Amino acid sequence: MMTETLAADADFSDRDAAARAILTGNDRGGYTVPTAGLYPYQWNWDSAFASLGFAQFDLERAWREIETLFSGQWESGQVPHILFHKPDPGYFPGPDVWGCTGPIPSSGITQPPVALSFATRLLAADPALGAARFAALYPKMRKWAEWFLRWRRDEKGAIFVVHPWESGRDNAPDWDNAMDAIDPQGVGYYERRDTQHVDASMRPTKYDYDRYIWLVQRGKALEWDDARLAQDNPFRVADPTMHFILLRALRDLYAAGEAQGLDTAGMAEQLAELEAGAQALWNPGMGFYDSYNCANGIWSNALTNASFLCWFAGLDAPEMAQHLSRVLDAAPYGVPSLAPFDPRFDARRYWRGPTWGMMNMMIGEGASERGVALGEEVRKRTREVIARYGFVEYFDPMTGAAAGGKAFTWTAAVWLAWAGKEG
Ligand code: GLC
Repeated sequence: MMTETLAADADFSDRDAAARAILTGNDRGGYTVPTAGLYPYQWNWDSAFASLGFAQFDLERAWREIETLFSGQWESGQVPHILFHKPDPGYFPGPDVWGCTGPIPSSGITQPPVALSFATRLLAADPALGAARFAALYPKMRKWAEWFLRWRRDEKGAIFVVHPWESGRDNAPDWDNAMDAIDPQGVGYYERRDTQHVDASMRPTKYDYDRYIWLVQRGKALEWDDARLAQDNPFRVADPTMHFILLRALRDLYAAGEAQGLDTAGMAEQLAELEAGAQALWNPGMGFYDSYNCANGIWSNALTNASFLCWFAGLDAPEMAQHLSRVLDAAPYGVPSLAPFDPRFDARRYWRGPTWGMMNMMIGEGASERGVALGEEVRKRTREVIARYGFVEYFDPMTGAAAGGKAFTWTAAVWLAWAGKEG
């Protein structure tokens, strides 16, 4: 499928060193920024991947990353999507726009809780080093998982998001229906900073951005109160990213908690509920996992990279293997964020087409764990695209061309922890 293929036994030691240098270069002391300039703070799920990357050569530093993330946890159990440790005028929207009052200035929404799963991997890497640190984090991790179950679950049992940024797939087509219902009047003047770092053709449109900011203003007006948000926020979309990653997180946490002799009361029931709830995300008309607008039940009808996180969640989903095969046939450089045969596909625009290393890792690993042979193919393609085009934020899935920010933490981490490893 690809024109030339890298030799299977290619020596990637130079790339390993470059990946480590990106992690240490983006280290701000206890936390890692996704990339200098474009994203100058600690992002929640980026940090989880950073931790896994560090774990390949500095386990102590890996633990610190997750501990710093949890230092921003709110009383409610929520762990914010951005922690603004040090002010940086190069980023918008900053702490004043969010207006939050947690222990560290932060955003008011969360992100997929993959940090919980990765904490269990740090523990497994060296149980003697990790047992006490894991035990200290464990009640906080459980509290975060329980916060999702309490505040971000709809009546069908699916986990929903209250802002596209919460899902981590900012401008995916999944949000279009709910975004259309928002009239962003009164959002006022603001100055975007992202398009000063990256070409506008690779970023969300102004249409989307007005609504992102409008939703932040709305959340602030509701004082980020979970009950009010669940009721009065016009944006609530049931999301496979959040649901599947939470399901995996709870599964991993439960297993590690049992093994460490920690309190696991109630976890078996929580897991069973989330497993049952996953079925709410099955779009019967399209025959794949999908998102829907909780306000009106309308499906996105979008086969995205989040649809393929079902295996990472520990589900057996044989139908999804055929979809993965079709998508990989259409896009040579890794799982695209939207199927190329969808008319909304846009090869360079962020979450409407490009392929992302960290999503590929969760898809590929999950597939391999569930015996889906294409998982290894996903790993090989991710390895190839990173080896050739560098540690960038994301890639054009049709040509492999580098896109978005450079020297990107999670792409480097995914190289060290998964893609660059010998198969
Ligand atoms: C973008 C991505 C999000 C990520 C953040 C920092 O907002 O969509 O998933 O966490 O950048 O890399």
